[in-house]
Amino acid sequence: MPEALDYEPFVLAPRREEPAPLSLIQEEILELKRRRHAVILAHNYQIEPIQRVADHVGDSLGLSYQAAATKADVILFCGVHFMAETAKIVNPGRLVLLPDLEAGCSLADSCPAEQLAAYKASHPGVYVVAYINCSAAVKALSDVICTSGNAVKIVRRVPPDREILFVPDRNLGQWVAKQTGRRLQLWPGSCYAHVLFTVEAIEKVRMQFPDAPVVAHPECVEAVRDLADEVCSTELMVKFAREHPARRIIVVTESGMLHRLRREIPDKTFIAGPTDTCACNDCRYMKMNTLEKVRDALLNLAPAIEIPEEIRQRAFVPIKRMLEWSKV
Ligand code: 13P
Ligand code: SF4
Repeated sequence: MPEALDYEPFVLAPRREEPAPLSLIQEEILELKRRRHAVILAHNYQIEPIQRVADHVGDSLGLSYQAAATKADVILFCGVHFMAETAKIVNPGRLVLLPDLEAGCSLADSCPAEQLAAYKASHPGVYVVAYINCSAAVKALSDVICTSGNAVKIVRRVPPDREILFVPDRNLGQWVAKQTGRRLQLWPGSCYAHVLFTVEAIEKVRMQFPDAPVVAHPECVEAVRDLADEVCSTELMVKFAREHPARRIIVVTESGMLHRLRREIPDKTFIAGPTDTCACNDCRYMKMNTLEKVRDALLNLAPAIEIPEEIRQRAFVPIKRMLEWSKV
């Protein structure tokens, strides 16, 4: 029997009251957004005050479709660098802003383009499936991109006679290999935040909420994925939580997700997946964006994402392939 948690779990109880009115800075952002003909795209891991001023809040896949479809002059991407870069790759003529250019991603960093190029040179003919959490230069070396929301579907579309290299997340890759039955060579990368969730800590929370199913992100390690009732992208977590009859759900991913869930499903209770030392888990990169930086980005029309045109054009090919394969 696991011992009890030595810290209080992080719980968002059903929302009974109306959300607080927008603050002055949030109103200022909305006004600037109108003036700049901008669209604000925010990932599910952004802080709640940013999610509230966004036009679209979603996962990497949903936001890629939104970026591809927008007619706005300016795209302000509240997420991390590779997400804003993806928006720029599909929108070379639009200004794409990221509130903090330092908002990177440990997964993207784990696969430098030069190392991937060297691997390809020594394994000619390998088919590269790249998780969207990678740089534009890595996308330019890839055959198709995937997100956690469509990875299984994308890998199933790869011609069966091709040897596949899956970069950069070995955990998502392992999970996809299991779902599809395809042998994948896995790049040894991982998300520093998702690998912190442990079976031991989750079991302790389960003792307190025995009726609550566990939903986990595929970037978690295998032992955590194996104990989960459902493994899916952040967007599919909303669907899972809405459709599952349980009133309480344990959510094993970055804590910003709980705010999205509570806004969409206000009558349920959401419990954050814990690590061994913490009741919930933030991505330090996602949390670099603040309301002040969002406002300043719209005010100054900076910092902007720039990509060398030759790389952008090559990176566009596997993204376009993903958007097409994912639709059907
Ligand atoms: P999703 O596409 O599932 O939102 O995941 C993005 C991400 O960075 C997870 O860490
Ligand atoms: Fe990257 Fe992990 Fe942060 Fe997602 S949670 S952006 S994979 S570091």
